[in-house]
Formats: sequence, C-alpha cells, structure tokens
Amino acid sequence: MKITIIYDTKTGNTKRMAQAVAEGAEGFEGIEVIMKHIDDASPEDLLSEGLVIGSPTYCGLMTWKLKKLFDESVKTAWGKVDGHIGAAFSSSGGLGGGNEISLCSILTSLMNYGFIVFGLTEYAGRGVTAHYGAVAVGDPGELEVKACRRLGEKTAEYVSRMFGGNRKEE
Ligand SMILES: Cc1cc2nc3c(=O)[nH]c(=O)nc-3n(C[C@H](O)[C@H](O)[C@H](O)COP(=O)(O)O)c2cc1C
Repeated sequence: MKITIIYDTKTGNTKRMAQAVAEGAEGFEGIEVIMKHIDDASPEDLLSEGLVIGSPTYCGLMTWKLKKLFDESVKTAWGKVDGHIGAAFSSSGGLGGGNEISLCSILTSLMNYGFIVFGLTEYAGRGVTAHYGAVAVGDPGELEVKACRRLGEKTAEYVSRMFGGNRKEE
C-alpha cells in the first residue's frame, strides 16, 4: 500500500506542511509513504491507496500545475481509485485569502476521481481549524504542523482500514 503526498510550492511553506503530513503517515505496517514535488509527479501516482495533495493558495484555488496533473491523469486513474483515501492541505498568504476554498478545489477533484475524502473535526476550537484539511497562513506554526501530522496519520489509519495493515508495535 502506498500513500503519496504531492505538493506544489514556491517559497517552501507548503513543503514544510507536506513533511509534517509524511511524518504523520509513517509508522504503519505495509504502508510506504512517498513525498513528491509536483514537477516529479506522474499520473500513476494518483493510483496510490492514499493520496494527499498540498497546494499554496493561488487566486483561491490549487495551483495550475496540480490541476494539470488531475487533467492529464484521467486516462490512467479516473474511476480506478474508487474507495481510495484522499485529503488536502494548503498554505495561503492571509487569513480569509481562500485556503479553505483551495482545499475544496482539491477535494472536488479527488472526489471526481473516486477518492473518499475527509477533514479534521477534532481540531475545532483548539486554535487551529482544519475542517476541510490542514491550512496555514505563511510558514506553518506548531499547531498547523500538528494538524498536518494528524492529517497524515488519519490517511494511514483509513488506508489500513480499507486495505488491511496494522500500526507497527511501538
Ligand atoms: C500567483 C499567486 C497567487 C496567490 N494567491 C493567493 C490568494 O488568493 N490568497 C492568499 O491568501 N494568498 C495567495 N498567494 C500567497 C501564497 O498562497 C502564500 O504565499 C503561500 O504561503 C505560498 O506557499 P509556498 O511557500 O508553498 O509557495 C498567492 C501567491 C502567488 C504567487
């Protein structure tokens, strides 16, 4: 089983979030965690049992490179990933700058392909909200990093439940 984290970034904020998502997803038997910059990603990556997409918020949406990957992967992956697990994270320049809308643009594409998507209800009211996935404004702080780790961990939990596999013994 594979969890692939595909991210775009220009100034490194989204990459730092991706690293935290990867840390959270590690530690489950039988699950390989792969982190890829969008420039290194290919349509085959969308076939992973878990797919987490991270984008800087660009004009309230995912970046064009990420959307291009979705557009170019239809033949390879569309309709072949029913029941696979998907999630999203985004870094924006400001509060209210559209990071949640960006998440929704990613979740919409994931659902369109057949992924089951989720957010993090457990962070409500604890200084960071992550209802549609993990968000950060600029450089992710401690709480945002924690939410990213949890996003990765939950992806691994759900992939394990759907496809078999157990948490490694401590
Ligand atoms: C082309 C472009 C469009 C952007 N659009 C938005 C936006 O709509 N809302 C926002 O809050 N920030 C916007 N930003 C700021 C980035 O989302 C922000 O700086 C983010 O942290 C960059 O992530 P990165 O360090 O991973 O590249 C934009 C930046 C660029 C370069």
